[in-house]
Amino acid sequence: MTIIIKNGKIVTSKDTYAGELLIEEGIIKQIGTNIEKDDAEIIDACGNYIIPGGIDVHTHLNLDVGIAVATDDFYTGTVAAACGGTTTIVDHIGFGPKNCNLHHQLNVYHDFAKDNAVVDYSFHGVIQHVNDDILSELQEIVNNEGITSFKCYLTYDYKLNDLEAYKVLLKMQELGGMVTVHPENDFMVTYFREKFQKEGKTSPIYHALSRPEECEAEAVNRMINLASIANNAPLYIVHLTNGLGLDYIKFAQKRNQNVYAETCPQYLLLDQECYKKENMEGLKYIMSPPLRKEFNQELLWEGIRDGSISVIATDHCPFDFTTKVRLGKDNFTKCPNGAPGIETRVPLIFSEGVMKGRIDIQKFVDVISTKPAKLFGLYPQKGEIAVGSDADLVIIDPNKEVAISNDMLHQNVDYTPFEGITVQGYPVLTMLRGKVIVRNNDFIGEKGYGKFLKRLKPFSDNYNN
Ligand code: URP
Ligand code: ZN
Ligand code: ZN
Repeated sequence: MTIIIKNGKIVTSKDTYAGELLIEEGIIKQIGTNIEKDDAEIIDACGNYIIPGGIDVHTHLNLDVGIAVATDDFYTGTVAAACGGTTTIVDHIGFGPKNCNLHHQLNVYHDFAKDNAVVDYSFHGVIQHVNDDILSELQEIVNNEGITSFKCYLTYDYKLNDLEAYKVLLKMQELGGMVTVHPENDFMVTYFREKFQKEGKTSPIYHALSRPEECEAEAVNRMINLASIANNAPLYIVHLTNGLGLDYIKFAQKRNQNVYAETCPQYLLLDQECYKKENMEGLKYIMSPPLRKEFNQELLWEGIRDGSISVIATDHCPFDFTTKVRLGKDNFTKCPNGAPGIETRVPLIFSEGVMKGRIDIQKFVDVISTKPAKLFGLYPQKGEIAVGSDADLVIIDPNKEVAISNDMLHQNVDYTPFEGITVQGYPVLTMLRGKVIVRNNDFIGEKGYGKFLKRLKPFSDNYNN
């Protein structure tokens, strides 16, 4: 099928220009003006922006946390992603049974996604324990299976200790892959959670108070130093919430460390006052790390502008509000951690970032698409509008004003933390590999059209980014 997109403003991380796109066999074949081709279907972009499809490198579809299961699976979650302008996800797979090998969860997630996903996908592997077998399996997966990033946690049930984290960093440095980390100081968090419970302090605000920003920042800094000892291993800090952690990251970057940071819309737009909402509504925002004091938002925007934060992802981890209330109404520690956001990321950042003048449109494209593609071995197939790249494209109408409400979203969860925010600008068309899968907020794609992406090693010499 041949398609020509006319009358749009093409936006990349470097440039904005008027141009036409010729698409054949799902690939961008030509960029120019007055492109003619017999039998081509013409899409009129009506003067709107054409951006590379959004790439969300932090989602949790099908996540089973024992007390609850995330309500979006790889079908509903990726339909929501597509409607919100995201054409690729990299999902953080959940923990498996104690002592399981690395393939265990990868196999489970391949089964979850295959024949269900409607956008292209990959996974970050998860490391729950470390020994020689795990490290050689890691090598096999990174070298042969296209999974070139792995996550470790410094808190939760399967946290790694410092030596284990160091061994993973060292191995991944040797392999040219990326270690991602959920950094929180588990001893301190556990101490505060127990203390608050003994004192009867169990309402949602104590979730935030039990996980102070210093706990996150200390763990960020610890991982940075372990990565430095591990021959400057590449390190990606997920869901950064605060300025103190960012200062450590900036310091490491000044010392030429391979340290990268991701934040999420909830940390840029919401603050810890949300935990005090009445009628249990504070439970909607129980996520880890928690929302912070408002002043951090501007520090994070500044980090995006100066490049110390490379990526805005979502940490989409949806549990129904009704479930959160049922489990957490008497005690925040019983409430499943996580909040939805896969569908609202692109419009929120376009509106709050570009339209409100906090970032320019090149930076917007960079943080929601190009940088994540580069850092996770997907570039230039994804994250770019160039001849030879996949025709993953999103048309954004900057004149479309939308009041975000859960009713108009496609995610399978009963609330959005962004209810009531009005955005200026919204995706009006999403194309994946040359196929229009969303038009005017209607999903018209096909279950199972999304395909598994074998990712490249982002830190190998022959990776062209
Ligand atoms: O609260 C959160 N973020 N839940 C999802 C798992 C994680 O920590 O990323
Ligand atoms: Zn996390
Ligand atoms: Zn997460």
